[in-house]
Amino acid sequence: MKSWLVSAIATVPLLTKAADLTWPSPYDEFEDIMYLQTGYARRGIVDGVNPCSFNSGGNSNLQGSASWIRTLFHDMITADISAGTGGLDASLLYEMDRPENKGTAAFNVTYGFLSSLFSRKISMADLTALGTYTVLGVCGGPLVQVRAGRIDATEAGPSGVPGPTHSTETMKERFATAGFNVTEMIASVACGHTLGVVHGNDFPEIAGPGRQNETDLLPFDSTKAQFDNALVVEYIHGNTSNPLVVGPEATNSDKRVFLADSNITMNYLQDPKAFSSMCGHVFERMMDTVPSSVKLSDPITPYPIKPNNPKIGLTPSGNITFTGSIRVLLKDKNSAGLENWVVSMPYADRNRTACDGCTIQTRPATFQGGFGGNSVESFKERRSFTIAFFEFNASIPASTSISKFNVTLKTSASSDPETYDNNGSGGFPLQDQVIFLEPQSCITGDDFQGDTSKRNMTIVAAVRDERADKPVRFEVIIKQQRQGFIVDELIKQTVQMEQWTGLGVAKPVGFTLFKATYGVPLGGLLSTFDVISGEGDDEVVDEFRKTGDIGSKQCF
Ligand code: HEM
Ligand SMILES: *[C@@H]1O[C@H](CO)[C@@H](O)[C@H](O)[C@H]1NC(C)=O
Ligand SMILES: *[C@@H]1O[C@H](CO)[C@@H](O)[C@H](O)[C@H]1NC(C)=O
Ligand SMILES: *[C@@H]1O[C@H](CO)[C@@H](O)[C@H](O)[C@H]1NC(C)=O
Ligand SMILES: *[C@@H]1O[C@H](CO)[C@@H](O)[C@H](O)[C@H]1NC(C)=O
Ligand SMILES: *[C@@H]1O[C@H](CO)[C@@H](O)[C@H](O)[C@H]1NC(C)=O
Ligand SMILES: *[C@@H]1O[C@H](CO)[C@@H](O)[C@H](O)[C@H]1NC(C)=O
Ligand SMILES: *[C@@H]1O[C@H](CO)[C@@H](O)[C@H](O)[C@H]1NC(C)=O
Ligand SMILES: *[C@@H]1O[C@H](CO)[C@@H](O)[C@H](O)[C@H]1NC(C)=O
Ligand SMILES: *[C@@H]1O[C@H](CO)[C@@H](O)[C@H](O)[C@H]1NC(C)=O
Ligand SMILES: *[C@@H]1O[C@H](CO)[C@@H](O)[C@H](O)[C@H]1NC(C)=O
Ligand SMILES: *[C@@H]1O[C@H](CO)[C@@H](O)[C@H](O)[C@H]1NC(C)=O
Repeated sequence: MKSWLVSAIATVPLLTKAADLTWPSPYDEFEDIMYLQTGYARRGIVDGVNPCSFNSGGNSNLQGSASWIRTLFHDMITADISAGTGGLDASLLYEMDRPENKGTAAFNVTYGFLSSLFSRKISMADLTALGTYTVLGVCGGPLVQVRAGRIDATEAGPSGVPGPTHSTETMKERFATAGFNVTEMIASVACGHTLGVVHGNDFPEIAGPGRQNETDLLPFDSTKAQFDNALVVEYIHGNTSNPLVVGPEATNSDKRVFLADSNITMNYLQDPKAFSSMCGHVFERMMDTVPSSVKLSDPITPYPIKPNNPKIGLTPSGNITFTGSIRVLLKDKNSAGLENWVVSMPYADRNRTACDGCTIQTRPATFQGGFGGNSVESFKERRSFTIAFFEFNASIPASTSISKFNVTLKTSASSDPETYDNNGSGGFPLQDQVIFLEPQSCITGDDFQGDTSKRNMTIVAAVRDERADKPVRFEVIIKQQRQGFIVDELIKQTVQMEQWTGLGVAKPVGFTLFKATYGVPLGGLLSTFDVISGEGDDEVVDEFRKTGDIGSKQCF
């Protein structure tokens, strides 16, 4: 036992240097949500749990941070490691009516918030893992590594969440089936219950008489909104108020768990450093418990350089427009004198050859001071990443166009420029074969063909003349509410696009215009879509465009 405890410290989840991602990556959305938590281009995952005591979803009896952690546990603990089934797969969404999942308001609040970030690019299960990372950051918990690639279940999985009346043997068996030994079981419970409360109305048998109102919140320790080891210290010193330790014997599951190895682990966890590192270990284990069919990525580290919201467009006069910003990670860099930094984008033309004078210049962004990252105030210093943004807005003749670019960074007048070529891949790739035309596209306030539940969406795209004979379609992923279900459904609709002579819009030289109209349901106005030219191996895609960018406007 002792030797494992020592080795647990040695395997503390240090932020080891994993391979950089190559852009575009399947994990780009994950990486953005993880590292763009505050400031410029923030994705806002912290808003449901910051500060740690925050009452999420407008429910003053629910602590958002605790709700998100309890969701992680109830979803993953039904895993069967030897069968390769269950784990963190959001199957809990289909299991809410089970008695073992009593107190579902917490799961609703969790999934309800995280579903605002849900799309075809990121699963609810991945968002639950990112939510855990965020809670640990906001509440003062350990720095954990997070992997991506979880896949959501489409139906309920097996049952088996341990409950407060279960025997020590049943709990050990349950955790063992999910892949957690006795030490890890004890640490998981101590680390999980450092946040939050028992709700008297949901668990009257634990709370006892006179404490069964929805406003009766019974904390596990004296610091329910701090990720610390007060729960352990108070248990060992015999002055704990943990209702699962000092409540009725029948429901004293925490007491049974803590005694499962005769207090050895609890004694060890009195050391705050040991608590933090062992909690980091068990939370990584919980997040990474997935069905055997799921292949998780390496731990996601921030891109040193990443294009942010890059958009290719086309003007009627035949110029490619290219707008967006470049994200620069400041981790090891002194950000002093940032206004003097020169961030440039040398690019290759459409034949992939470097050309003279083909360089896009950027300017430091000014919104939010031009900074973002995940250095939310309550995140500990050691986990914070600051990211600076440099904006560009280029116009390039379509005849030469652009196929890829590098980013060069000069931090002072005298320094040599550093070149970033996208993890050694020779540049950040772009395609100019099919271009969604944002100004010419719109969702108007009009009903679609007299159907008052739909709005008229018009999509216009330009396709290179040499591909004009190939079919063009757009695939919209409508994100729509589902009756009796807390997370939106993603419904793919494919709409063929027709060649369009562009009444009132000049045909850009070298391109053919295509257009389609579609009735977008009122509940799905914030969806995403791809415009695709060709079929099968020959497809080119302008992907992951947002209906929100063309919402409530007229077509030009
Ligand atoms: C034998 C295992 C466990 C049992 C029997 C158990 C039981 C309970 C019970 C009865 C509650 C009260 C729920 C409510 O009133 O809303 C609770 C809350 C909670 N549990 Fe557990 N738990 C166990 C393990 C875990 C683990 C491993 C974690 C996470 C790592 C966890 C995280 C939480 C959190 C964060 C809360 C507070 C929820 C809130 O404040 O809304 N639990 N647990
Ligand atoms: C629990 O698992 C760890 C590895 O995570 C191992 O080192 C330790 O010996 C195990 N403890 C028990 C009680 O089996
Ligand atoms: C980044 O580049 C390294 C070295 O070429 C490579 O091993 C690694 O797979 C690349 N990373 C990704 C995510 O492609
Ligand atoms: C949770 O959400 C579901 C689906 O919207 C709903 O049926 C259920 O009543 C909600 N539960 C609670 C406790 O709010
Ligand atoms: C719960 O407590 C609130 C506030 O003290 C009170 O207004 C309410 O009537 C109580 N509800 C029940 C069911 O006792
Ligand atoms: C475990 O610790 C508790 C709290 O200090 C104590 O009351 C109990 O006697 C201990 N049990 C064992 C077996 O050491
Ligand atoms: C519990 O007892 C310990 C040791 O005497 C003390 O440091 C701590 O403040 C007490 N905590 C509570 C909540 O009473
Ligand atoms: C990007 O940098 C790589 C490596 O230095 C180089 O091979 C490539 O030609 C550059 N691409 C552009 C567009 O400058
Ligand atoms: C880019 O510049 C053009 C011309 O000055 C301007 O009309 C357009 O709004 C700018 N686009 C962005 C995204 O800043
Ligand atoms: C097209 O781009 C070129 C090169 O960037 C620029 O000189 C020209 O003014 C642009 N034309 C229009 C109409 O924007
Ligand atoms: C690209 O290559 C083609 C075929 O070699 C050539 O006709 C064309 O002029 C080149 N375009 C540019 C922009 O260099
Ligand atoms: C949708 O809007 C477009 C552009 O405003 C218009 O041409 C078309 O007639 C409308 N279609 C329907 C079905 O309302």
